[in-house]
Order: sequence, then structure tokens, then C-alpha cells
Amino acid sequence: MLVGLMGSGKSTVAERLASRLGVTVADTDEIVESRVGKTVRRIFEEDGEAVFRAAETDALGAALSSGAGVVAAAGGVVLSETNRAMLNRARTDGDALVVWLRADPETLARRTKRGAHRPLLDGSRDDVIVQMARERTPLYEDVCDASVDTDGLSVDEVVGSVLVVLDGRGE
Ligand code: S3P
Repeated sequence: MLVGLMGSGKSTVAERLASRLGVTVADTDEIVESRVGKTVRRIFEEDGEAVFRAAETDALGAALSSGAGVVAAAGGVVLSETNRAMLNRARTDGDALVVWLRADPETLARRTKRGAHRPLLDGSRDDVIVQMARERTPLYEDVCDASVDTDGLSVDEVVGSVLVVLDGRGE
């Protein structure tokens, strides 16, 4: 399971990691979009963030029980205590390993410049990212088994670091 802020590379790393491991991948944003039948942006705009967050909790549950070998959890999953409890249960009861893909706010701002699918970054992206990093760092720390610093690393290098974490745990 990969967690981290928007732009940390979760979805891209998850896809490549899954193909390296020969397993399937589940992405909570994709599950939300296919279940609700709208993009994340449209859900935020038409239904509001609370509706999105409720759908996200359902999607996290679905992803955790999907049998997928790799799960990319959207940046905001750690905001909810229910979600954090689900993640911590998956770690203790199941055999889930939660890896936090960490990056400096400058890196995240650069990586999220392209693509207009993230409604929370519509305003002053840099300030929002700094604020999110401040609020969410303790939450990622609460749910992760290990973190990988992704600043200056290519996708393959990040995948390599995650594989080292997995190996260290006997997988
Ligand atoms: C969000 C992260 C996004 C998406 C939504 C809200 C957040 O997912 O769920 O825009 O609150 O951090 P990614 O982290 O996959 O970009």
C-alpha cells in the first residue's frame, strides 16, 4: 500500500511496482470514479468534498479487500480516523505493508503542475501543498511501516527503494 501527498508519485509507482511484482493494482481514486460514475473533480464540484470523502472510505475498504497486490491510496485517505484505523488493521491483522512516499513541497508543486484533475490545488498550489504537508505528515507517520524519500529520484529508483523495503520484510 502506497500513501503520500498529491504528486508523491503513488499511482505511477504503484503501476510499475505491480508490474515488477506480477500482481494487480488498485487505486482508490479510480475506484471512487468508477463507482460514482464521475471524475474526482466533478464529484468535488457537484456534490462537495464530504460526499467525495465518504466515497473514498468505501473505496479504501474495497481496495483493501480486492486482493490487489499493490494499492495506491489517494493523498487524503489519512484525514479520516476511520480510514487510518482501516489501514492500521490491514497492517496488523492482514499482511499489508504501508509505504509513505515522501517529498518536499517544492518537488510536489513541480510534479503537480501538469494535469487539472486535482480540485484542491486550483488556488495557490504552493501554499496548499505546504499546508497539507504540515497537517498530514503526522498522519502518514501514524499509518506507515516505512517511508521512501522520493526527491530527485526517478520512478524506477523509487520502485527500487520500495522493493528493498518489501525484501527487508521477507517478501
Ligand atoms: C486528494 C488527493 C487526490 C484526490 C483528490 C483529493 C487529497 O488523489 O483524491 O483530489 O486530498 O490529497 P491523489 O493523491 O492520487 O492525487
